[in-house]
Amino acid sequence: MLEVLAVGLGVAAVFVGTMPAVAGRFDGVLTGVALVLAGLFLAEYVVRLRLASRALPAPGDAGPGGPSPVARIVRGLRWAASPFGLIDLLAAFPVPIALAAGMSTGDARLFGALWIFKLVRYTPAVGLLGRVLRNERRALVGVLVAFAIILVLAATLAHLVERGDQPDAFGSIPAALWWAVTTLTTTGYGDRVPVTMPGRMLGGVVMICGIGTFALWAGILATGFAQEIRRQSFLETWDLVARVPLFHALGPGTIADMTRLLRRLDLGAEQIVIREGRPGDCMYFVVEGEVAVHTPSGPILLEAGSFFGELALITGEPRTATVRTVRPTILLELDVVDFRALAASRPELLRIVEDEAARRRSQRPAANRDPARVSPA
Ligand code: CMP
Repeated sequence: MLEVLAVGLGVAAVFVGTMPAVAGRFDGVLTGVALVLAGLFLAEYVVRLRLASRALPAPGDAGPGGPSPVARIVRGLRWAASPFGLIDLLAAFPVPIALAAGMSTGDARLFGALWIFKLVRYTPAVGLLGRVLRNERRALVGVLVAFAIILVLAATLAHLVERGDQPDAFGSIPAALWWAVTTLTTTGYGDRVPVTMPGRMLGGVVMICGIGTFALWAGILATGFAQEIRRQSFLETWDLVARVPLFHALGPGTIADMTRLLRRLDLGAEQIVIREGRPGDCMYFVVEGEVAVHTPSGPILLEAGSFFGELALITGEPRTATVRTVRPTILLELDVVDFRALAASRPELLRIVEDEAARRRSQRPAANRDPARVSPA
């Protein structure tokens, strides 16, 4: 958190340092701030390098005396060459080196803009973006090639039809490329516009192609993000589902099916999950923790591996009891629509749930006794 504040302060100092009125009056202060921050980042770089040389695994470093000096150097170099190592390097060195090399204070401070890369460490979504770009690289490169083809054709055609009327703007293909880029990206600065009828028609076609290309690009990225997030949550949910003995007993096929359908819920202690008398549209599996079912004859405790909330889904009637967490609990939630689909595809699971539901409905626990503890169904 402190580092994020330091980065914010540093980048703000770089920004205001480019305003002549501020830079003229506070040049010394701004350079001092830049040097202090660069010093802090340098200290951080050294500490991280030392930690990395001890922590990262490297071949040949298992020995009775711990990692050998060579293994430590290898580990340190590996970290230094990693993306985070390079970001920390860029944050620590350029400003002091530029000042030492005799660059003007104003120009040397501009290297402080590189500090913004430090935020990558605190933003897991950047890693996600990297994975999406890697996964979708073929489709993205395909769109990029289509973009390049349209660009070259547009610039060539614009040069052909406009060069007579506007030799300055369209007299060569490189000159026409500027118009093609601003039109294809639908930026439209308007500094160069076609004036002939064929040129304007070409402009319209290029704009439409531009919108299409960017829509394609956005669609690929959006789908990539959605798939990656789904993949990650699948892996996390898989681990939880595999911990429920009921699914475990029914085999990996059931675990895979359930993983796609279940949603994780993290609840604190004493939170109401189900209220008696309300309509029910989902059931729950206890993965970790404990819940209490408040029946007229006293609370019944359900531990990890149990399920509840199935009665309303089977009978279509309102909830028969209030259920609340006893301590911090992880639940998996199954929607009624998915419950029905699952009941059709996995009858063995439906049978277990129905048997337990029948047992619960027929159960008449004696009043005022200690909470009954129910082990996994
Ligand atoms: P439902 O009626 O949908 O919502 C309340 C839930 O509490 C109910 O489904 C059951 O899953 C659970 N429940 C009700 N009675 C008992 C019981 N006697 N033992 C264990 N669980 C129960």
